[in-house]
Parts: sequence; C-alpha cells; structure tokens
Amino acid sequence: MILASVLTALSLLVTLADAAVPHPILSGRPTIPRLSIPDRVLTSPNGTVLPSIKTVYNFDQLIDHDHPNLGTFRQRYWMSWEFYEPGGPIILMTPGEENADGFDSYLTNATITGMIAQQQHGAAIVLEHRFFGESNPYNDLSVKSLEYLTIQQAIDDLVYFAQTATLPMPGGGNVKPKTTPWILVGGSYAGALTSWTMVNKPGVFYAGYSSSGVVEAISDFYDYFTPVREYMPKNCSSDVQAVIAYLDQIYDKGDTVAQRLLKEAFGLGGLSHMDDFAAALRRNLFDWQKLQPASGPGAMFYKFCDALEVKNGVSAPATGWGLEYAVHAWASFWKNTYYAHLCGNTAAEDCLGTYDTTKSSWTNPTVNNAGRSWTWMVCNQVGYFQASPPKGQPAIISQILQPIYDARRCVNMFPEKFSTPPTPAVGDVNLLYHGWNVGVDKLFFANGLRDPWREATVSAAGSGVSSTSAQPIYEGGGFHCSDMLRVSGALDKTVYAVQLAGLESMKMWLAK
Ligand SMILES: *[C@@H]1O[C@H](CO)[C@@H](O)[C@H](O)[C@H]1NC(C)=O
Ligand SMILES: *[C@@H]1O[C@H](CO)[C@@H](O)[C@H](O)[C@H]1NC(C)=O
Ligand SMILES: *[C@@H]1O[C@H](CO)[C@@H](O)[C@H](O)[C@H]1NC(C)=O
Repeated sequence: MILASVLTALSLLVTLADAAVPHPILSGRPTIPRLSIPDRVLTSPNGTVLPSIKTVYNFDQLIDHDHPNLGTFRQRYWMSWEFYEPGGPIILMTPGEENADGFDSYLTNATITGMIAQQQHGAAIVLEHRFFGESNPYNDLSVKSLEYLTIQQAIDDLVYFAQTATLPMPGGGNVKPKTTPWILVGGSYAGALTSWTMVNKPGVFYAGYSSSGVVEAISDFYDYFTPVREYMPKNCSSDVQAVIAYLDQIYDKGDTVAQRLLKEAFGLGGLSHMDDFAAALRRNLFDWQKLQPASGPGAMFYKFCDALEVKNGVSAPATGWGLEYAVHAWASFWKNTYYAHLCGNTAAEDCLGTYDTTKSSWTNPTVNNAGRSWTWMVCNQVGYFQASPPKGQPAIISQILQPIYDARRCVNMFPEKFSTPPTPAVGDVNLLYHGWNVGVDKLFFANGLRDPWREATVSAAGSGVSSTSAQPIYEGGGFHCSDMLRVSGALDKTVYAVQLAGLESMKMWLAK
C-alpha cells in the first residue's frame, strides 16, 4: 500500500518548486513548500464540473479591524468544493508570508488540507495573507501602510473571513462557523498563526492543524542551526565547523591580510565588510530549509556537501577532510556554482552587501515583495534572527553574525520607523498568543526533527507543552512542513505516521 502511494505520488509529476532565487540579502523566511500541480477538471461528489482551482476569488477584508470605517481591501482566495458534501467542514489555510499564487495544490489531496477535506467531505480554501502577493490594504509597502501589518490584524482577518465571507460554492452563504465546523490549517509562520488564532479568538475555529508552527517568537534564534548541524552529513558538519572556526579566529585577531585572502579565495574579494562575507557563507546553510523527503541529490544543500566531502569519488570520514581541503573545496563551490546561482552577473557588493542604504532592495516600496513585508514582521514582532550560537558551542555559522547584523536590515528598510537596530517585541507576542504555553482544545501539532525551525515549535527543547489528546504533538523525521505534502508521507514512513495521526484526530473531533 505504501509502495502504491509512492508510485501515485511520483506519477503526479509534482514539482517541488525551488522557486525563484530569493533576494540574496534577506535571510530565510519560515515558509511552506510551494507545490505546483497541473490544472485538471475536478468534479463535485455528484458529478458537477467545478470551476478551475486556479480561479481567483476576492473578499472585501477590513483594512483595520479596530477601525472598520477605514474601509476594505481585496483579499484574494482560492477554493475547491471537490470533496464537499452538505454538513461537511470548511478547511481554511493561508500560505502565510508568501504570494499565494501557486498554492492551489493546497486545495487538492496532494496536500494535508485536501486530505482533510477528502476524509471529512469538506471544502478547502487558500487565503492570501494581508501585505503579501496581491492582497494589500494600500498600494505600497511604505511604513505608513505597513502599520496595518500586525499579527493581530492577520488573526482578525481569518476570523472576519470565516464569519462573513459568502463562499462561491452552492450554499456558500450558509456555512459560517456558528453552524459549520471550520478547520484552520497552516505551516511555518502560518502554523504559528493557527495556534495564535485559536488562543486569541477561541470558539471561531472548531479545530486546527499546525505544521512546523513557529509558535514562540524568539529574537536571538541561534537554535535555527541546531537541527541542521545535528542532521547534516557528519563530515560536512565537521568541515564547515573547521572553516567557520578559522574565519572567527582571523577575525578576532584582526588579521586583515588573512581575511582578504579568504574572501578572495571565494571570489568575494569585492565584499567590503566581513559580516557580509560571513552572511554569504550562511547562505549555504540556509539551503537546508529547502530540503524535503522528495528532494533529490540535485538539491543545493546536498550539492554543497558533496562538493566539500567527495574527493575523487571518495567521501571523507565523519571527521571530514580537515581545514585546508575544506576551505579550498568550499571556495571552489562558490566560484564554480554558488555565486552564479545566488547573484547571477551582479557584482558581489551589489548582490551581498548590506551597507549601501540607497539600494533599491532597501528603499523600493512596491507591493508583492514578501521579503520586505516579512522583514517588517521580523523587526516589530517575531525576531527569529538567525544568529550564531553562544561562544564555545559548536557553530556552523560565524560568531560575526550576532542578531544585530540582521536587525540592521530594519533600519536600512524602514528608516522612518527605526533609527537603531530594534529589539522586536517578542515578549509581548508570547504573552498575548501564549507561544510555547499554548493549551487549546482540538489543535494538532505536526513537527519534524530535521526542521531548522524546530526549536521555535512546541517540539523545542525549551517548550514546556506536552502532547495530550486535546492538543496532540507529533514529531516525524521530516523537514520543514514536510507533513503538509502527501508525497512526503509516501517517501518517509515517520511523516506518514504524523499525517495519519492528524487525520485521525480530525475524524475523532468531527465525529462528536
Ligand atoms: C450537485 O452538487 C452541486 C454542488 O456541488 C449542486 O449545486 C447541485 O444542485 C447538485 N446536483 C444534484 C443533482 O444533486
Ligand atoms: C485524490 O483525489 C483525486 C480526485 O481529485 C482522486 O482521483 C484520487 O484517487 C485521490 N487520491 C487518493 C490517494 O485518495
Ligand atoms: C560524507 O559526505 C557525503 C557527501 O555529502 C555523504 O554522502 C556521506 O554520508 C558523508 N559521510 C559521513 C560519514 O559523514
């Protein structure tokens, strides 16, 4: 049966989009995998042909839930009632901090939302988050507009949508949460939003599914790299640590000659600041976040470790090849492969430098710029600065990268708001929405041991929450949000177990 589903999964010709190259100067956002699937004709259970799942619907969302008289904006959504039968639940998900184009697979049973819909005879909705993609209260991402981008407004959007939207399906005006169970689903930041919404607005969503939900806002989030270090190939981890220790050593000593030689070896002699160089090397570790059980050997992270560890067809032992070869191999990888992948033909300082505040990547307020909107949320509320661990702990990124390195971006991007690198209000967020202290009824948490965001989820070492039948916590061996994709379960039985447990919980909760 597992084999059969593997074959089905592969024959779907799903492509895990490695998407467009993210903006090089921005660090990794906690996002869910975008899964492209071809459009096809879908029918409802009684055979009626349904509109294409690529059809975009619009909802008149309040700009400011505290001041409804400010008016509304158009919030995009997508919907499928392929599996819907009267009385079934409505399953609402938002992709979170992303343009929602290309997330229509989350309406189908290729993903967990559709799997829940199929099992429970429900309808599935993908709602674009405010200030991402084409769902913008105002037509720019200026500081003035972004004042309406807060966690609370995003929570209120979900609630107001559920309570007032007239859905395009037959009978879609009569399925409000008062009479119909609504299930909120999200992954990553949106997985946290699922938890935060159920804490903050109890009684609206009947049940929730939070995949890799980063529920605890953390400013100095150095533990981002802990699962990476733990689960990456040992030899690669050893060699990366050796190179990073060397970089930190020549930096601490103020050995500018050695620093210049190292930058030049990587083809990054054009970068004037050492912290930008250290951040460039961090990019290779960020690539871990793009891994999924379905990733092949061509995934960038694996290419990176192969470049460091496989010499003449032989791989290094767990201790790696040692500093000298590792520097040489990492540097060649940058020159031969990685620079072009990240920067194309752009010069190093333009591509990777963060000190020229006149660059359009800082100043351009045009909408549909996920990096800019997310940076706003990072700077104000959630932090998650992906910094180096405390001195003395094993490190795969440099000590040069303290939280202030990323907090500087806040000043560069939003000088009207921040005159100095801010400390995000993580304490307030965790107090308001309970972070690791979440305790709500009928909320399922799915996490992955290899997820770099693991230490911000309820599966973190620091979280005091334990799994109960009202609020189950399941951990598989997956990566970030792996359980959201059916194909991950087909390829990894620990992820499959998490998906089954989630579906079982929904069945139990909806049976009542
Ligand atoms: C079939 O289902 C659609 C809703 O999906 C409904 O509008 C239509 O009336 C149904 N037709 C029959 C014959 O039950
Ligand atoms: C997924 O849904 C399609 C209809 O869209 C159906 O043909 C297929 O059998 C379903 N897959 C599984 C594994 O249930
Ligand atoms: C060494 O690195 C290679 C290439 O990434 C990997 O396939 C192998 O499992 C690693 N071996 C050890 C012992 O870490």
